[in-house]
Amino acid sequence: MHVLVTGGAGFIGSHSVDLLLAQGHQVRVLDDLSSGKAENLQPHPALELRIGDIRDRDAVHAAMVGIDAVLHLAAQVFVPVSIDQPVFSASVNVLGTVQVLDAARLAGVRRVVYASSAAIYGTPAALPVSEDTPSRPLSPYGLEKYIDEQYAALFQGLHGLSCCGMRYFNVYGPRQDPRSAYSGVISRFQDAIAAGRPLTVFGDGLQTRDFVSVFDVARANCTALTERTEVQGVINVATGTSVTLLELIAALGRAAGRELEVQHLPGRAGEVRDSRVVPERLWQELGIRGAAIAF
Ligand code: NAD
Ligand code: UD1
Repeated sequence: MHVLVTGGAGFIGSHSVDLLLAQGHQVRVLDDLSSGKAENLQPHPALELRIGDIRDRDAVHAAMVGIDAVLHLAAQVFVPVSIDQPVFSASVNVLGTVQVLDAARLAGVRRVVYASSAAIYGTPAALPVSEDTPSRPLSPYGLEKYIDEQYAALFQGLHGLSCCGMRYFNVYGPRQDPRSAYSGVISRFQDAIAAGRPLTVFGDGLQTRDFVSVFDVARANCTALTERTEVQGVINVATGTSVTLLELIAALGRAAGRELEVQHLPGRAGEVRDSRVVPERLWQELGIRGAAIAF
């Protein structure tokens, strides 16, 4: 297939591109390199990198020519940026997504798989969550992803565009950038371990998260995009196992072969305390059972 990956130079995008290329697909990436890096992509005869913005109508229409399926991952990914700059964030995460969906249906694309987020749940009324749990986002970012889901459902209803939204939980793995204060906690902890710095824990460390490997996320993306194209709606992408940060630190300490120094700072305001999900659709409908880290 000819696949367009928006945000393909990013963390999840580049691993998805690797897998699509390994499966023999032709891949075009559209990325403005605002948070991704060209170095995340190895040169490959079946890979084309186009530097452009998903809000640029002409760039998106041009990128869509000859494309069978779209993996739409490009986004403004930082929750705090969505709070401080909600107009900018919505322009990328809502209008950019509408631009991609509109160009896809006009180009006759057969399948769109796009990134949503666990952030759409906010603090849910009950745990574990399922795809039917109501959305109660705590940030513009979460709301933008939820609006994207509604647009995708509308484009499917109005134009017959086959769409599937992937609600990623806490993704970790190689190429995750550890340098922002809001980078994924595992990448930040690994960076601190490598530099011999203490690990900074916000709060008591008893908050829970479901950490899913980027390799399993890439498998889920590619399966939804190229094999299980009848699967529609939204899918939680997680392992089904949640752990506390202190359990995570113990596992990292075992891997490093030493006890890790921990520094506790006040907890982050407005964040979710517990995250728990039973990803039945991922298991049953995509046939992906991501391995949890052994704690
Ligand atoms: P990332 O920052 O590595 O990837 C995002 C990519 O989009 C980058 O390569 C960036 O340069 C590109 N991009 C940003 N704005 C763009 C624009 N206007 N036009 C073109 N390209 C643009 O982040 P990631 O973790 O790989 O996230 C991929 C997707 O998954 C995003 O939609 C994100 O919201 C979602 N997501 C990620 C996680 C996670 O744990 N990493 C969790 C939930 C959802
Ligand atoms: C994650 C997503 C976010 C999404 C949210 C919704 C990432 C990077 N972020 O946020 O986009 O809105 O899920 O479910 O995946 N922590 C520390 N020390 C650190 C860094 C973090 O203690 O150095 C703590 C945080 O306070 C939090 C936990 O670790 O309790 C996880 O943090 P993080 O990896 O940033 O992800 P989420 O906050 O869960």
